[in-house]
Amino acid sequence: MFTTADFIPNPYTSTIENGNFEWSAPSNIALVKYWGKKDNQIPANPSVSFTLNNCKTITKLAFSKKGNNENFSFDLLFEGKPKEDFKPKIQKFLERVEVYLPFLKEYHFTIDTQNTFPHSSGIASSASGMAALAINFMSLEKLLNPEMTDEYFYQKASFLARLGSGSACRSVKGKVVVWGNQANIQESSDLFGVEFPYTIHENFKNYQDTILLVDKGEKQVSSTVGHDLMHNHPYAERRFAQAHENLDQLIKIFESGNLEEFIKVVESEALTLHAMMMTSMPYFILMKPNTLQIINAIWKFRQETQIPVCFTLDAGANVHVLYPENVSNKVLQFIQEELVVFCQNGQYICDKIGEGALLVDN
Ligand code: PMV
Repeated sequence: MFTTADFIPNPYTSTIENGNFEWSAPSNIALVKYWGKKDNQIPANPSVSFTLNNCKTITKLAFSKKGNNENFSFDLLFEGKPKEDFKPKIQKFLERVEVYLPFLKEYHFTIDTQNTFPHSSGIASSASGMAALAINFMSLEKLLNPEMTDEYFYQKASFLARLGSGSACRSVKGKVVVWGNQANIQESSDLFGVEFPYTIHENFKNYQDTILLVDKGEKQVSSTVGHDLMHNHPYAERRFAQAHENLDQLIKIFESGNLEEFIKVVESEALTLHAMMMTSMPYFILMKPNTLQIINAIWKFRQETQIPVCFTLDAGANVHVLYPENVSNKVLQFIQEELVVFCQNGQYICDKIGEGALLVDN
């Protein structure tokens, strides 16, 4: 079993004055949802997600040694322009991870970041953003400790990303990623995401995710507040147990390729997540009327055509439409003809399962 102490490095064997890296990291969509956490970003229940391919953050990290080591020093650019309002989040992240990356105060950093998806699309950029930043820092640590194994590199990148934003730990490596201790998944950990270690049926190869942008506005309730409301939530314990049960179900479903069962677990998870929000105190609703219109239209289409298309939701009004690659044409036609009317400005993003973070070759 890993502990946090495993991520505190021994004294470094190399030095480096300056340089830069550039990594992209994707967003991910949870099938079993993480909702509720303990101290230090430890999840209240395990979760599993598909890594996305097209929705990603690309972050360039430039570093140069500075004179004194008293404070963190960094500039933050978003799409090439200074972005002061992102800085407090990064400052907090640096404070949290300093014990694991003891070199942080020795350098001045320029963090230059951009997303491939439209800003304020309602797609959370915290997962991809924190994963991209964490893995850049790991590239620097690898220069200071050239002996580092690839396994440690990715595990610690995920560990650090988790401290930035919980679900970010599932955006580092692998197509299907589990985060959180689950008895039947031996490698699983509360501390970092791991690639789903068992068989995955062909049916899930290149699984498609079309994200319907229902509401691009700022959420009324942040995930941080939402997670917090799971403390003393009347249904919390049952919900956490259910997540374990659903993850066990998915282990079998991934092996058998049974899409009917897949749909049941995935849609139930999405609605349960929102049910938890509606039964918190204070209660809140993040779905919009068009979210429900889309869900009903998907159910009707599935009933009529027997095409295995389903939906999931994250903490917002947007709908992720999930379906196997071999029905893409029919589902895209359905989306264009019947669902686009419910999207804000008719906007949607076509995505699919991807591999995780990539070093950008410049
Ligand atoms: O990583 P956070 O704190 O933004 O929480 C994400 C929570 C959900 O997206 C709703 C579920 C999940 O597992 O990604």
